[in-house]
Amino acid sequence: MSVGEIRTAMKTDIVEIRRIVDAVWPDNEISANRIEGVLNDAAHSTMVYAIENQVAGFVDGFSTTSGEGVSRWEVDLLAVHPDFQRRGIASALVTANTEVGQSRGAVIARGLVAVDNVGSQKAFAKSGYETDGVICELMITGGTKGPSDTADADEATTIISVRTMNYTGLWVEGKRSKAGLVDALRQLSDSVSDLGGAVIPCDETKVIDNALSLGFEKVGRYQWWQRPLK
Ligand SMILES: CC(C)(COP(=O)(O)OP(=O)(O)OC[C@H]1O[C@@H](n2cnc3c(N)ncnc32)[C@H](O)[C@@H]1OP(=O)(O)O)[C@@H](O)C(=O)NCCC(=O)NCCS
Repeated sequence: MSVGEIRTAMKTDIVEIRRIVDAVWPDNEISANRIEGVLNDAAHSTMVYAIENQVAGFVDGFSTTSGEGVSRWEVDLLAVHPDFQRRGIASALVTANTEVGQSRGAVIARGLVAVDNVGSQKAFAKSGYETDGVICELMITGGTKGPSDTADADEATTIISVRTMNYTGLWVEGKRSKAGLVDALRQLSDSVSDLGGAVIPCDETKVIDNALSLGFEKVGRYQWWQRPLK
């Protein structure tokens, strides 16, 4: 473990957070305004790992409520500058951020991790998270025109509005159905959100085909990592 401190991110850390994003996700442009919006959002907790005034890594987590009313903590963004990787910093950040979620009353914490991201998987595992092993397609759409399809809304589908450093969006959860996806597209076209996203188990091929036909794209294979907090 490097000698450093974990603390809540401040506005003055935005430049350093962007520097880390540029280093680990060179194709991903995150604006300073968007980071500031997240830092000011009471539902979020953004934390940095600082070593002598230099920010080596950061994590952002935020609260959501599932369709069943379960209070969750979403560990959403996690990054450590390449100069500081493999020193236990990500593991320490996930642990600290999860404790914030717990202190805010979340019943469960979770993070969506790419199936090939061994470093992130290990960091979550070291913080007490486990995966059920279900491999899912992450599917997103930026569609703002609204669906041409007219399926009725599905009451078993939950649409969750989120704001992250990357995007404002709508997550489609609960029972995955074409009607749910259509409903998300309809809500997306009526909102200021940038994208809609759904995490669909790979064996639900019909739902995946429906999502593709509605304009969703596959962006990668992921697994949920979860940790009960009560
Ligand atoms: C993934 C990431 C956050 C890990 O950060 P880190 O500070 O290096 O992680 P840690 O040092 O806490 O490592 C945890 C474990 O994973 C291992 N590990 C880290 N990176 C690894 C890699 N690329 N391949 C294999 N193992 C790795 C560490 O050796 C450690 O193993 P140990 O528990 O056996 O000692 C960092 O590599 C990163 O920022 N990557 C790019 C962005 C990213 O993928 N973010 C996560 C999105 S969910």
